[in-house]
Amino acid sequence: MHIMEMEHPLSRDVLCRLRDRRTGPASFRALSRAMGTLLAVECTRKLKTTPVQVSTPLEDAFGEVCTTPPILVPVLRAGLGLLPSFQELLPDAPVGFVAVRRNEETAKPMWFYDSVPPPEGRQVIVLDPMLATGGTSGAVVEYLYERGAGSIMLACVVAAPEGAAELGRFENLIIITAAVDRELDERWYILPGLGDYGDRFFGEGTPHPRSAGL
Ligand code: URA
Repeated sequence: MHIMEMEHPLSRDVLCRLRDRRTGPASFRALSRAMGTLLAVECTRKLKTTPVQVSTPLEDAFGEVCTTPPILVPVLRAGLGLLPSFQELLPDAPVGFVAVRRNEETAKPMWFYDSVPPPEGRQVIVLDPMLATGGTSGAVVEYLYERGAGSIMLACVVAAPEGAAELGRFENLIIITAAVDRELDERWYILPGLGDYGDRFFGEGTPHPRSAGL
């Protein structure tokens, strides 16, 4: 496994505003969109291109197009927050869905649903904004490798060292993240993190006791 922390000043700026507890759902969604774009650019840096010739209004020009886009797999629900930006840059990318949620008592992944195009030999980008224990992402990565995925990248906004260590078992996995944070708390939330991504994106839930100052 290789983990790459983005170093772009804009990703630091967007992350800082995502972290801020005063950022409400509307701004959180707009910032998620910006973060998704930054992650999509980084994840597709080595995408293969095919040379083509096009005619401009003045003459012929040689260029390159991306003919084999990766399969995008957002992990429901939070992964949906990153999907529109990836689709904007990869409009022909097939999209698969997996619904996996961690059991809040045990932190073990609970699998609800999957519908993923055949990944044999394809590049797959898994969208899961918060890499906490690595239980959920690990289950999804395992599922994709078992079905023959050629290469897998995990795009996340914040990663915990514990989650990164758990995913260390996948030799060829590449993780792209805006930040590797300090640690998990006793409820497996990332510290300092940004709280519950899904709740903040979809505008529900109660603040974690720590961020509520309790
Ligand atoms: N999922 C979240 O949304 N936030 C965390 O801190 C950990 C997992």
